Amino acid sequence: MRMYDVIEKKRDGKELTKEEISFFIEGYTKGEIPDYQASALCMAIYFRGMTEAETVTLTECMAKSGDTLDLSMFGELTADKHSTGGVGDKTTLIVAPVVASLGGVVTKMSGRGLGHTGGTVDKLEAIPGYRTSLSEEEFISQSKRIGIAVIGQTGNLTPADKKLYALRDVTATVNSIPLITSSIMSKKLAAGSKNIVLDVKYGSGAFMKTTEDAEILADNMVKIGRGCGRNVTAVLTDMNVPLGNNIGNALEVKESIQVLKGEQKDELYDVCVELSSEMVALFKKIPVDDAKKLVVEAIDSGAALNKMREWLGAQGGDVRCIDDTSYLPSAPLMYPVLSDKDGYLTETNAELIGTSAMILGAGRASKEDKIDPAAGIVLCKKPGDKVKKGEALCYLHTSDVSKIKDAEDVFRSAVKFGDEKPEKRPLIYKIIR
Ligand code: URA
Repeated sequence: MRMYDVIEKKRDGKELTKEEISFFIEGYTKGEIPDYQASALCMAIYFRGMTEAETVTLTECMAKSGDTLDLSMFGELTADKHSTGGVGDKTTLIVAPVVASLGGVVTKMSGRGLGHTGGTVDKLEAIPGYRTSLSEEEFISQSKRIGIAVIGQTGNLTPADKKLYALRDVTATVNSIPLITSSIMSKKLAAGSKNIVLDVKYGSGAFMKTTEDAEILADNMVKIGRGCGRNVTAVLTDMNVPLGNNIGNALEVKESIQVLKGEQKDELYDVCVELSSEMVALFKKIPVDDAKKLVVEAIDSGAALNKMREWLGAQGGDVRCIDDTSYLPSAPLMYPVLSDKDGYLTETNAELIGTSAMILGAGRASKEDKIDPAAGIVLCKKPGDKVKKGEALCYLHTSDVSKIKDAEDVFRSAVKFGDEKPEKRPLIYKIIR
């Protein structure tokens, strides 16, 4: 087989066979197919798309390109979630212990943040002592013991995706539905869970800017996951505004603890209850409404908070931070951004607020950047709130005074005011079961 013929076939809009897709993924992972031919094929896929059968094959080949986790010892109890990325998205920190407290086995491999979006691993590393790297043996034995383990992605999981994603990033081929679908779902398949809930975000702070695009992506991922033998649900959630009040790693851990203590029942709580209920419904095979009652009870009774304590402690984290959040890193500078107008807040653009937090040190502009775990933003006002001139809109947290001016400018460009109270946007657009 020749790579030239595979590229030509896709360029002409024809369907690739299993053998052709497998030839490409194996050859590219081994370094036998050069970047220039792989990028030509990605561009052909970008323009010509892929059929469902092609996308299933691509996903399976990528999932098998490296190590895969065997979780069969847990039967049907394994439950994973994936968010397509957003600002202030700390749902894993809340959902994972809720689901584990109800008997699910949550074995998660999470990513780091880049650009305006945050990553779960960065948030967990803000907890003093927490180990985001465990051996496979430790990972499995902890999951058996307490039903939960969350680590960073291990060395040889889906190497084909690592290479292809880096190539797509520099060849303007990231934004292709079959390529995104296979990239995300191959990692989920390799990570081994039987039940998967996808939190597909749409809006200014998300990868998919419109509900239409998010729905196409979600439909595709659900079909492909099911085609590969997994139970999959997708929840389409709003990311036009940041999720919750805190953006930044230690600040998000703090807010997650507040939600698990039952002290914060807002949009963040609602999204977490929804995602947890879908996961519980899948692994317990019960109606979602019944699952929701169990989830609410797990939070109200403190069972989920206890599970968080067990989990963080098992991975070396300082659990004193659960009762006293002053054990988490905190920034020496907290600078208020004051409103220069009276009126209703109508917009808090998630992408720009994420960028402002990144400038303060909460995120990375490039992969090499170092994160300040204490940096970030605490929002004091949300769209729909009445604001008086001189009131604080947010507090910027940082250890570097020189960053405040730029971060404030970007934050101010993210907020808009009006005379009328804006209509509340739905938090959940659709659920695909
Ligand atoms: N996230 C991924 O993991 N892969 C993509 O292709 C896009 C977003």
